[in-house]
Amino acid sequence: MISEKIKNQIQVVQGDITKLDCDGIVNAANRSLLGGGGVDGAIHRAAGPELLAECRTLHGCRTGEAKITKGYRLKAKYIIHTVGPIYSGTAEDAAQLADCYLNSLNLAKEHDVHSIAFPAISTGVYGYPLEDATEIAVKTVAQWLEDHADYAMQVIFCCFDARTERVYQARALQQ
Ligand code: APR
Repeated sequence: MISEKIKNQIQVVQGDITKLDCDGIVNAANRSLLGGGGVDGAIHRAAGPELLAECRTLHGCRTGEAKITKGYRLKAKYIIHTVGPIYSGTAEDAAQLADCYLNSLNLAKEHDVHSIAFPAISTGVYGYPLEDATEIAVKTVAQWLEDHADYAMQVIFCCFDARTERVYQARALQQ
């Protein structure tokens, strides 16, 4: 059960994550960190070419891990790049997806980020079933907020389409 306090720290919105004015936005990247389609492509297009230049210095990212760059032309000061699992139906998928949220939040805290937006990691090209992925996202984030009650953090789940938003709203409010 999510407490009212934690619920007040979580928002679900529908929109384009590149437009959000928060401290950090999370990119659902691939292991190369050199850009791609989906939200990865949108973030690179909006942030501009300096983002790719900085990503080249990071030498990739393992699934479940997270790395941070500047936000460049974005309103957000930082971009946290994380690599979700390519859905295969194994128990490892869930653990790796949870790690994406945990490692992104921990990295955000290390950089004094107090508002962070997540896309629906792995639910696009990587094929993670939306309901299962949403369950993991909301549960992992709620637990982290509870474990870090002394750290002010606003989490925005930025859903690109209405279906994703409906699933997130149902899950986030239902707890
Ligand atoms: N803002 C917010 N969410 C977005 C945006 C956007 N501008 N564009 C797409 N999305 C949503 C998708 O609709 C989906 O709900 O992000 C979610 C994740 O989908 P993908 O971007 O396909 O990411 P993922 O499933 O994690 O696959 C990652 O796709 O784009 C490539 O380089 C990326 O190889 C990596 C793979």
